[in-house]
Amino acid sequence: MFDKDQYLKEIKESHDYLLEKGFKNIDIAIILGSGLNEIAEDFEQLIVANYSDIPNFAKTTVEGHKGRMILCKYNRLNVLFMQGRFHYYEGYPMYRIVFPIRVLSLLGVRNLIVTNAAGGINPNFNVGDIMIITDHIALFIPENPLRGPNLDDFGTRFPNMQKAYDYQWIMRVKSKLTDIRNIKEGVYCMVPGPNYETPAEVKMLRIIGADAVGMSTVPEVIVAKHCNIKVIGFSIITNIYRDFVESSVTHKEVLENTKKSLDIMKKIIQASVEVVYG
Ligand code: HPA
Repeated sequence: MFDKDQYLKEIKESHDYLLEKGFKNIDIAIILGSGLNEIAEDFEQLIVANYSDIPNFAKTTVEGHKGRMILCKYNRLNVLFMQGRFHYYEGYPMYRIVFPIRVLSLLGVRNLIVTNAAGGINPNFNVGDIMIITDHIALFIPENPLRGPNLDDFGTRFPNMQKAYDYQWIMRVKSKLTDIRNIKEGVYCMVPGPNYETPAEVKMLRIIGADAVGMSTVPEVIVAKHCNIKVIGFSIITNIYRDFVESSVTHKEVLENTKKSLDIMKKIIQASVEVVYG
């Protein structure tokens, strides 16, 4: 059973641990999805905290997710990377999946970049495209992360999701990335997973307006908006549904195709960080 007072105490404990380690004055936080851990290795690293050492953090169980928080320097900015996230399909309740976002909010984070791997549904997409997430569909997630007693200190009972992904931020990033040809935009739909989609499911997702499908990100974004944190998001299109069918998608293929986009994602993340304080 969810115990609000206990949960708030746990958030504070994790916050205190990270603050004590020096995680403060964070200008921007970045969640690295499957296969993107390496991006953090290219930044000047100041402090590392393993999720397994942070009180009350869940453990990452997925291959391709490291489970560390790293505070880095980039252009005099303090940039915090989360190498790995928690997923609903791992068996965690939603409030555990979004726990790090609330800890980050308490640490004063006001800007968040989310990344993920996703299956392409839009017929104009190709493997290797990067989709700037303009909106999401959360209606298929089995439980809203804000269900239950509202955490009034973090946000309002009925938060607005009209501008979940910051339009100004998107426009400014796009103006910096004009040399990258395979940048697309679209709607991300989260499904609970862990199986990939059937052709009938893909067809339905296309009809309702999804451009890409994945198993993460949306709970974190909902909670970030609840905490009034600004969000920008990117999906790497790792596999494609043509005529609603994808013959071969495997986690291995998703990770391999994510790795091929590491350089471009690094550029996109740098541009996204630069424009926040530019
Ligand atoms: N479906 C769901 N999640 C995914 C996919 C997909 O096709 N590709 C990468 N993550």
